[in-house]
Amino acid sequence: MVVPKKVWWDRDPHTAAKHDLLRKYLQPWAPILLSRYDSIAYAEGFSGPGVYSEGEPGSPIIAFNVFAGVLEHRPKHIRMVLVEGDKRRESELRTQIGKARGEPSDDVNRRISVSTHHGECHPTLLEQLRAQGCLGSPLFVLLDSYGGPDIPFSLLQELARHRSTEVMVTFAPSFLTRFAERDEKHRNAGDTAFGGTQWQEVFHRHPSQKFAFLRDQYSDTLRRAGFSHTLTFEMVDEKGHVLYLIFGTRHELGLEKMKEAMWSVDRDHGIRYRDPKDTQQQQLTLELEPNTAPLRRILLEHVSRSPEGMTVAELKTYTLLETVYKPGQVTNLIRQMRDASAVTTTPRRVTAETLVLPYVPPHEQTEPSDQTTLF
Ligand SMILES: C[S@@+](CC[C@H](N)C(=O)[O-])C[C@H]1O[C@@H](n2cnc3c(N)ncnc32)[C@H](O)[C@@H]1O
Repeated sequence: MVVPKKVWWDRDPHTAAKHDLLRKYLQPWAPILLSRYDSIAYAEGFSGPGVYSEGEPGSPIIAFNVFAGVLEHRPKHIRMVLVEGDKRRESELRTQIGKARGEPSDDVNRRISVSTHHGECHPTLLEQLRAQGCLGSPLFVLLDSYGGPDIPFSLLQELARHRSTEVMVTFAPSFLTRFAERDEKHRNAGDTAFGGTQWQEVFHRHPSQKFAFLRDQYSDTLRRAGFSHTLTFEMVDEKGHVLYLIFGTRHELGLEKMKEAMWSVDRDHGIRYRDPKDTQQQQLTLELEPNTAPLRRILLEHVSRSPEGMTVAELKTYTLLETVYKPGQVTNLIRQMRDASAVTTTPRRVTAETLVLPYVPPHEQTEPSDQTTLF
């Protein structure tokens, strides 16, 4: 994207989708964690000015409003740590937080602490999180740069050392594919972000595969940093620029909630997802409609690799951890696949324990051999 020079800029549709996703994730995230902890934290390393040119709220204000609503009904605390590299934007952000504080009651305002900091994301963010004692308690970190690569692997590693930290990172692959092969400075920036040189394999990939390759490399980077589960969202703006949002967590519940948020994002924003596991649809986009045809193909392929069969419970775990789909979509699909003779189920009734096997047409089923009894 073209990097804006002014304090404010126009909010494009994919930013609106990103905001919708953030809101829909934080809405369950905060209450779930506050049911077990007295205090949780939210941080941003690239906070922006808190407002767009038409007055739409930026991500820190969206998070603040969600938290104010959540704290209305709970006697708990939330800390927000917001870092912004542009002095004018950090100043505007403070103004916007001040305005947002006009809505909630004094009691709620007292229980949300917000600090804004002018500085480079790295190392300012870590310094502030440490100084304010946020590392170790549940923490959601949004690293929403223009796509970089400008988030050092060492920062991700440091954040992932704490089990309850989750991150959402913005990653734009085009900069690396366009400039890094010929320019050492950009290559070094790539190495710092990916934590090694393995991503440079992209230079030898076919042009049509380069973005997907970098996307997978970046998910792998998050996993190597310590976030055992990742989920990738592809966003394509109206000019066709590709931007990935990559979510990292160590918790299956986090993954599940993020998927629910993802599937409920307003379709009008034009956000699109692709599932890398669906080899037939690499070039097509998955609509936000719960179109389960790709999941059907993914499950079929998975079952066909397992002649001894898989339980529905195992297929649900696979769906949660390895695809962009929700486990809640699996049972119905298995029923449909059984009725269409794509798989067989034992017993016929589909429950978590039901075994799902690849379908073998009757004429191909081998009779039990009696050879063993002959010899
Ligand atoms: C994509 S915008 C953030 C938008 C914001 N998250 C939102 O959704 O409303 C990126 C912001 O990061 C800031 N920025 C760029 N490089 C930075 C750095 N190295 N450290 C901190 N902030 C930086 C820019 O000034 C800009 O405001």
